[in-house]
Formats: sequence, C-alpha cells, structure tokens
Amino acid sequence: MNFELKTLTRARVCTEKCDALVVLIPQDFSGGNDAVSQLARQALEAGDFEGKPGKLLSAYRVAGIAATRVLLTGVGDGSAKNVRTAVAAAMGALKSSNAQQALVCLSTLSEPGEDVAKATVLACSDATYTYTNTKSKPAPRKLQRVVLGASALAPLKAGFEIAAGLVKGQELAREWGNRPANHATPTLLAGAAKALGKLPKIKAEILGPKEVAKLGMGAFAAVAKGSEEPLRFIVLRYDGAPKAVAPIVLVGKGITFDTGGVSIKPAAEMDEMKFDMCGAASVLGTFRALAELQPALNVVGLIPACENMPDGRAIKPGDVVTSMSGQTIEILNTDAEGRLVLCDALTYAERLKPKAVIDIATLTGACVVALGGVRSGLFSSDDGLAQALAQAGESSLDLCWRLPLDEDYADGLKTNFADVANVAGRAGGAITAAKFLQRFADKFPWAHLDIAGTAWKGGAAKGATGRPVPLLVEYLLGQAGKAGAKTGTKARGSKAKASS
Ligand code: BES
Ligand code: MN
Ligand code: ZN
Repeated sequence: MNFELKTLTRARVCTEKCDALVVLIPQDFSGGNDAVSQLARQALEAGDFEGKPGKLLSAYRVAGIAATRVLLTGVGDGSAKNVRTAVAAAMGALKSSNAQQALVCLSTLSEPGEDVAKATVLACSDATYTYTNTKSKPAPRKLQRVVLGASALAPLKAGFEIAAGLVKGQELAREWGNRPANHATPTLLAGAAKALGKLPKIKAEILGPKEVAKLGMGAFAAVAKGSEEPLRFIVLRYDGAPKAVAPIVLVGKGITFDTGGVSIKPAAEMDEMKFDMCGAASVLGTFRALAELQPALNVVGLIPACENMPDGRAIKPGDVVTSMSGQTIEILNTDAEGRLVLCDALTYAERLKPKAVIDIATLTGACVVALGGVRSGLFSSDDGLAQALAQAGESSLDLCWRLPLDEDYADGLKTNFADVANVAGRAGGAITAAKFLQRFADKFPWAHLDIAGTAWKGGAAKGATGRPVPLLVEYLLGQAGKAGAKTGTKARGSKAKASS
C-alpha cells in the first residue's frame, strides 16, 4: 500500500478525482462553502449523521465532488484515538468496494498534528490488510493508494513518514503471525529473517541445532527435542550507528506451534497456538520498519524458534535441563516452554553488552486473564526503561501496563531438584513467568512484554494484530533521538512521499 501526503484545502479536496473520499468530521464541525462542507452540514442538520467517533455516512456521485464515493466519518474531538476509530470504520466499509485509491481529508480538522497523521496511516493499513497466503483463489486488498490531504503539511510530515515505514513492519508481523504452523516453520521464519538481511543496514545470521548445542543452550534445545522440525536461532542486526554504540536487543518468542508438549493442551482453540511466534514476528516487523526509517542506533534481534511437540524424544515433566547460564531448570510443565527458549536467548544477549534488552512473548494465559486484549503486560527491572516503553505505548496507541516483580512472587519457583522450576502455582501466573525470566536478565536493563492477549484476535476476526510493532518502533525512534541523531529518522524510498 502506498501513501502520499498532499496540501489540499477543503475546496481542492472536492475537485480531486479518486475512487473514494473519506472526510473526517469533528463533533463541532462548521466548515465553509465548499461541496464537502455543505454535504456534511446537511447530513448533520437532518440528523442523518453525527460527528461521534466511528459514525459513518456513505454517498455516491455527489454533485460538486469529483470523487466517486464520499464517506463522512465522525472523529469526535479529533484526538488521535478517535481518528483511528473513524478511519478504521471508513476503510472497513470501503474494503468490500472496488475502490483502489482513496483520499482522506484532514483539512476539516483544526490543527491536526503528527499523531493524527500516524493514526490515519495506521488505521488505513490495519483495516484493509488481507491475508491471502494459503487461499487457492487469493482476493488481495483492492485499496492500493491513500492520499492524506491537509491544509498544512509541516505539522503532519514527520508523523506521516514514520507511520508509512511503520505499517510495512506491522503488516509483515501480521503476515507471519497469521501463517499456519506448517507454512511458518522455524526454517521458514529464518528464511524471512534472511530476506530482511538484504535490506539496507540489516544482517541476518541463522544458527541451527549444532551451533545451539555448542553454545550450551540446553533449555532451548530441550523444547525443540520433541519436534521433527529443526530449531533455528535467528540473529538480526540493524547497524544504524557506529560500532561502539551499545545495541538495544529485542528477543522474540518464536514457538511456531505450541501443543503444550507432553503436558498437552486441550483441543479447543489449539489452532490459535500457531500465533505463539507473534513475539518473533514483532521482531521481524520492527526490523522491516527500521529498514524504512533508518534511525541512528544499533539494534539486535534474537529469535529462538522451534515447535513444542509431544514425542518419544520430547521432554517430560520432572526432567532437569541445564540452561546456557549454567542454572539448572526442573521442567514441571512442558507447556511453560516459552520461558525455556527465552532464558537462553537472554543469556546469549549478555555477549552483546546491550544498552537494554526487551523480550516480547505470547507467554501466559494468565496475562490474558489479567489485561485482556487491550494492554500488553509490561515487566521491568529498570524504572527508566519501563517508563519509556509505557510512554511509547501511549503515544503509538499500542498500550501496555506495568505489573510488579516483587521477590515474593518467585517463591513458587523453588524446587528440591534443580536451581529453579519452570512453573509456580496458578496464582499470578504472568508475574511468576516474568520472575523466571528475570533470573536470566540480571546483567543489563531488561523489560518483558507479555503479548498473549494483544498479539492476535480470536473469533470471527481471528488474526494477528501486528502488535507491539508500533510500541517498539516508537520506543526505538525515541532512543535514536536521545543518541544525538540529527533527525532521528530518514524516510527511504519513493513510495511514502510527501509532496505538495
Ligand atoms: N503460549 C502459551 C501462552 C498462551 C496461552 C498464550 C493461551 C495465549 C493464550 C504458553 O506457552 C503457555 O502454555 N503457558 C502456560 C503456562 C503455564 C503452564 C504455567 C499457560 O499460560 O497456561
Ligand atoms: Mn505453552
Ligand atoms: Zn507457548
């Protein structure tokens, strides 16, 4: 999908030829003498339309307006969140039409800022993304081009350019999240990483079972033992700053299918465990966005990828394995496999002398119970890092919420047979999982995002969300700003252009 930002007054918007014109109408809209304003005022006065967020009115071949379709969509007070709701509603309605080019009119808003430009672009991508990979008759999305029209470009430009890069990353994360486990094996995920390695400033390195054994990653290797699919340990690097600059490390849980192993899961909804690599997908997506935005910082992505299967060779409850850190782990429940693959990746991160390490994982059902699908769980041993991530979540509308890490929560992980057990009781399950990880993350500022509730949607709208790519990219760009980069970002390529 291509985006363009263009100077267009309300009057000019009326004369622009396009398949669909989406007009954002605030609650207190007054407008002018142009055809769009008149249409909106008539609909408002007749009580057929309201400026409330998400309200929609569609019209066809309106006199005085060059666009074939016109959609009025309410944005309430014009906040970024409401703009997202409004644009999503309009784009959702357009999805079933034949429209290929749309013009979104922001010139009806009073002083829209960066966040409004971002919300518009993200909502266009989000509402029109279509999964086709395993359909015999793919029906790809029809909407190919969206122009954002505004009376002044300067306040929108930076947000627009960031979002145009960001959506490429978020869509990649959704795509890999959605692919069925037999179409997204550890080897295929590694292939996706290798493809990213061809983009500017990105390198990919793939380790297999032999190298992982040599590194002593006994916990990761233990999970992979029950599967015929060989594990992969993916190392991605984005080198946007001089070598001496310490990297930020992103670790993504890459369980390409989680049966639970010998502690097998119930059959109902087990298909959704193909999404258990959404942490990994968010790392791939973030690197895709970095390739577009080219910020001045160094980032390393680590993805331990394997299946969790029951098998004659699979780990059994009670087995004790030795992690890369040297700590022994009693595996009391083979379904708590995410923390086992992550702990070795965290230990691996030590050698990178990182500025910060953030792991992203569909880690616990308990986090879904605690926070639902609205906010991801955030845990951190570092207040500054926690604050920066929480703030990045707020400004990218990709929310998270910090949960505690009191030492008392680790009590349940004690065992007579190893240094630590991989599960505690049911109570506080998202926190005890984080306490387990924390044991392997004491050499650097660390944060953990539990995205079990936010990475995908179930039910009729079943599918990956691409979260938390917006949060991660927002955080990283903020860090680039701090590192003294001239502009923070530089948009690449010609597709996401700003013109007047
Ligand atoms: N991948 C799951 C977590 C999960 C479950 C995410 C449901 C989204 C929906 C993870 O590997 C897991 O199975 N966790 C267990 C941990 C338990 C055995 C301590 C869980 O949450 O039930
Ligand atoms: Mn599991
Ligand atoms: Zn899992």
